Amino acid sequence: MEKLVDLISEEVSKAFENAGFDAGFGKVTVSNRPDLCEFQCNGSLAAAKQYHKAPIQIAQEVAALLQGSSSFESVDACPPGFLNFKLSPDYLAAYLENMRTAEKFGVTQEAQPQTIVIDYGGPNVAKPLHVGHLRSAIIGETLKRLFRFFGNTVIGDIHMGDWGLQMGLIIAELCERQPELPYFDDSFTGDYPAQAPFTISELEEIYPTASAKSKEDEVFAAKAHEATHQLQIGKRGYKALWDKIMEVSVADLKKNYASLNVSFESWLGESDAEPYIAPMIEKMKQAGVTELSEGALVVPVQEAGDTKELPPCILVKSDGATLYATTDLATIMQRMQDNSPDRIFYVTDKRQNLHFEQVFRAARKGALLPEAVRLDHLGFGTMNGKDGKPFKTRAGGVMRLEALIAEITEFVRAKIADNGTVAQDKIDETARLIAMAALKYGDLSNLATKDYIFDIDRFSAFEGNTGPYILYTIVRIKSILSRYGDASALPILPPDSPEAKSLMLTLSRFADNLQLAYRDAAPNVICAYIYELAGCANKFYHETKILTEPDEKKQAGYVALIALAKAVLETSIDILGFEAPEKM
Ligand code: ARG
Repeated sequence: MEKLVDLISEEVSKAFENAGFDAGFGKVTVSNRPDLCEFQCNGSLAAAKQYHKAPIQIAQEVAALLQGSSSFESVDACPPGFLNFKLSPDYLAAYLENMRTAEKFGVTQEAQPQTIVIDYGGPNVAKPLHVGHLRSAIIGETLKRLFRFFGNTVIGDIHMGDWGLQMGLIIAELCERQPELPYFDDSFTGDYPAQAPFTISELEEIYPTASAKSKEDEVFAAKAHEATHQLQIGKRGYKALWDKIMEVSVADLKKNYASLNVSFESWLGESDAEPYIAPMIEKMKQAGVTELSEGALVVPVQEAGDTKELPPCILVKSDGATLYATTDLATIMQRMQDNSPDRIFYVTDKRQNLHFEQVFRAARKGALLPEAVRLDHLGFGTMNGKDGKPFKTRAGGVMRLEALIAEITEFVRAKIADNGTVAQDKIDETARLIAMAALKYGDLSNLATKDYIFDIDRFSAFEGNTGPYILYTIVRIKSILSRYGDASALPILPPDSPEAKSLMLTLSRFADNLQLAYRDAAPNVICAYIYELAGCANKFYHETKILTEPDEKKQAGYVALIALAKAVLETSIDILGFEAPEKM
């Protein structure tokens, strides 16, 4: 569906043309003075110079031609040369009725749908998920849903950190604790046990212990490095043990991400890129873009015109070890082969900006992917505590994701239990839904690249620019609708109050906002829009007696309007990755 502002622009452009001016002057925008008008056009001011005519005269000539139009209630030429428009109620109702009945509210789909891989989540196996991974999951999931909404094929890839030193540390530590296990017996040729020799809680204890030990104990550190190396070159027992670590960790990760309403199509990790490392290096060498630098194999990525210094991208260290960048480059080759995407989009902490800049440049130089394939990195800011420092537990440790979710859920549960509006047996589920909205909206409503302060009181408030406020608006509408009955076939009627009109005008801008969010990969645009929409819906609800309206036809119009507001809000929060309860 064409955007409302574009439809009006076309009509006004024609009027400019018919009045003898260039159609290009007829561009209409949403008014920045809503007290005066709904839409405006400032083209007469620019046209004045070209046609050597007073701007007001031009505006008047154009306005005169538009007087008969069924689109407008009023068209005014105002000094020094503005054109101010108010939309006709019938025209607005017809537009919204089209939107109501159209697939996806008439949001224009991508003309050439793309295949997009989004690399987000990025947890490190056997290390607990912490709030640093939270933002990647929340933002990545939203972008995936947003890109999908426009008709693209989107593959969410978790890209686990499952191949590094942390694996060697765990293996070395286990070897010290349980040397009798068959994984450590080089002469063992039978089947390894089906049961993992640890639980997830044990695993989560083993890693930090081993990591601390390696910092003090050189012999142990060397053992861990050797174990990592042996694993990577395929030692049978270590590989079997690694499989068990993966099995236990992945089950736990799936549980954790499910609790966040986040899911991945692809559960690959750094380890899966291993077979692509040699071919990738070969390709780089053949492209002639590698250099030896102090024994390391690197790709210089500095370019003429760079204002800052960009260190070379290291492929292989002098001791033969490969690095984070090596895996990322190999993964690009793997993805091109497996998915042949049109775009790869990475969502990580902005402290990795330099890393991705190096990787992208090296990938281009080595022609690991066709020119047309787009590489993007969204580097998000840090989630800070009220003290402005990276968020920690009260004890000062790194907050685990599970603990964080539990804390907000508990906070919200106490609130709704107090309110007494939710049935006893629905309190758990309702608290969970509200907590998710608080957490996700609290994150997504900020410009992603900025740091933000995690404030449980503010995020969980039912009033103000919060997730729970959006849910509250939806729940209110649901309650009216449930008392009204079936509203699904009711058409939108022309507005009969300023509140109805303003709600309708805001609804008509859904596609505009979604497109902006899509273009800029900016979920905060959706948040700002639904906050405005919820405000309009609440105002309308306050000023309109919906259920007690005696005129049935009018009443049906009101109900149709709030039903559309609810549908648009629900679609929006689904993109943001949360949902509304029945009551709250
Ligand atoms: N595991 C990494 C970390 O915890 C994030 C991985 C992001 N994705 C990537 N392709 N590098 O920092």
